Amino acid sequence: MEATTTPLLHVLVLVLVLFLFDSAVAQPFLFDPINPLLNAGPAQKKPSYETSFTGIWELVRNSSGVSAMHLVITKENKAILFDATNSGTSLLPLPAGNCRPDPTNKTNGEDCWAHAAEYDFVADQLRPLKVLTNTWCSSGGFAADGTLVQSGGFHEGATAVRYLKTCPTCDWIEYPTALSVNRWYATQQILPDGSFIVVGGRREFSYEFIPAPGQSNPSNYKLPFLIETTDDEENNLYPFLHLSTDGNLFIFANNRSILLDPRTHTILREFPPLKDGSHNYPASASSALLPLRLRSSTTAPIPAEVIICGGASHKSAALAAEKVFIPALRRCSRLTITKPNPRWHTEVMPTPRVMADMLLLPNADVLIINGASKGTSGWGWAESPNLEPLLYRPSSRRNERFKKLTPTTIPRMYHSTSAVLPDTSILVAGSNPNNRYNYTAQYPTEFRLEKFYPPYLDPALAVHRPRIVKELVPSSVTYGTSFQVVFDVSDLGLELGDLKVTMYAPPFTTHGFSMNQRLLILSTVELSLPGLGRWTVAVTAPPSGVVAPPGYYLLFVVNRAVPSEGVWVQLL
Ligand SMILES: *[C@@H]1O[C@H](CO)[C@@H](O)[C@H](O)[C@H]1NC(C)=O
Ligand SMILES: *[C@@H]1O[C@H](CO)[C@@H](O)[C@H](O)[C@H]1NC(C)=O
Ligand SMILES: *[C@@H]1O[C@H](CO)[C@@H](O)[C@H](O)[C@H]1NC(C)=O
Ligand SMILES: *[C@@H]1O[C@H](CO)[C@@H](O)[C@H](O)[C@H]1NC(C)=O
Repeated sequence: MEATTTPLLHVLVLVLVLFLFDSAVAQPFLFDPINPLLNAGPAQKKPSYETSFTGIWELVRNSSGVSAMHLVITKENKAILFDATNSGTSLLPLPAGNCRPDPTNKTNGEDCWAHAAEYDFVADQLRPLKVLTNTWCSSGGFAADGTLVQSGGFHEGATAVRYLKTCPTCDWIEYPTALSVNRWYATQQILPDGSFIVVGGRREFSYEFIPAPGQSNPSNYKLPFLIETTDDEENNLYPFLHLSTDGNLFIFANNRSILLDPRTHTILREFPPLKDGSHNYPASASSALLPLRLRSSTTAPIPAEVIICGGASHKSAALAAEKVFIPALRRCSRLTITKPNPRWHTEVMPTPRVMADMLLLPNADVLIINGASKGTSGWGWAESPNLEPLLYRPSSRRNERFKKLTPTTIPRMYHSTSAVLPDTSILVAGSNPNNRYNYTAQYPTEFRLEKFYPPYLDPALAVHRPRIVKELVPSSVTYGTSFQVVFDVSDLGLELGDLKVTMYAPPFTTHGFSMNQRLLILSTVELSLPGLGRWTVAVTAPPSGVVAPPGYYLLFVVNRAVPSEGVWVQLL
């Protein structure tokens, strides 16, 4: 691709552009200001741009100050990362005179170390945050206005709900007694009306809804399914929750799954079991709702498909406790939860994996990253870090879906995290398989922040990357309406079928599960060319909160699998 930078080629491209411009002027249809429509009707699909680039890693910061057990990206382009409050002194002090009361500190009851931080990944700056109640193994999601809403944890934090608004000086606001019972290793999911359900937790076989700030839930809803699916190793913690396109909640625990109507508290159906092994914490597989392809007609039901990859034999945790590390699972299984009688369809990953993160990429591919090849979640319960990310292309032919990517050099096992950034690179953080901060263990507490650049960031594909004109994109869009996305791209002869416009709900990632992650492929209506190299694509916003809960989404334009950078758009 070196050749594209030679002056001769530039001249040739310019000549070609001028020629096309000329012929366009000669054909009024193309530049008619009243009808600038270039390409309506059935979309022609050209193949994705191919690349042999397998990604690169960059160490972006030696210390995040706090090890990132939990990680989110806010609409202000900041990462919020936090740990438990009881893992010991962190590497980031709280501002002088601003210590937190700490009942476990025998000296004077104070803890002067941050256990949460805001990382500005654009300016590379770290700001300590002060969290009072213990966030150990908690859960979270973003409210419709972009506030991080975060629930449960350990000890005094187990019934807490915490709020973090996204402003330069904002800090946590906490309500320690909001939940009815302890929610430690529970999962939180946003619902179509913007409320949150919290399901499960250690020895809690029930669910509840996050109350209004300052209110406390007097009771909850029992869910015997969580008793039925627990075992000696408690392999059903952090259940996988996915909001289906019919407003019902898919709940996967251990090796079984149900569809719950959270409005009527009825279990509508149980799906076939996923045999051979366990898939939730500590057998930590990873799971995602695959990208949803929306249609302009709002009446046809939108198919929803769940994927679960990896995990461990249900005895793996008990064996790891005896220092016997058995290989993790290699299977990936998909289930269309909107079909009347769906079956699991299983494929085999190139390598076994437990504790991985599964991220939906802006171009609707899937990234499987972090984790180990042997053992399970738990302190010292895994070995053989799996350093090699995997690309999974859900819509490719069956035997062409997996691609092994460039390995990192930093093990990211228990308590590691990752996130899709607006520039489409991946922030990778954390890993602490020790019960305190430990710098001498075989797998020490990890503070280094890396970025991974997936194959679509191949420098040779840069020429095809669309650039959204941010000032011309609406800051908010209403359900079911049409809106326009203006972007620049140097590809000549772009057609509607070359494009995808996607919207990504940024997840809350912890313990190998990215809660509330959702990628919508919008229905594209028409493409027009208002100026040289500048295009406008008209799209239809998601039909309702059932398909896409209210909130801030990253909007991307994807040209034959090469995504633009994302722009934040509020859906309401
Ligand atoms: C991290 O630390 C190493 C060793 O001190 C140094 O060479 C490197 O430049 C640092 N990297 C960053 C991104 O700060
Ligand atoms: C206990 O409190 C003292 C005084 O604020 C502080 O210097 C020390 O670091 C704290 N210990 C721990 C383990 O946080
Ligand atoms: C589900 O897992 C449990 C143990 O975790 C096991 O006893 C049971 O046989 C499994 N069920 C199926 C259908 O594989
Ligand atoms: C760190 O981990 C090692 C190995 O598990 C252990 O021997 C050591 O005591 C730990 N150090 C601290 C400070 O906890």
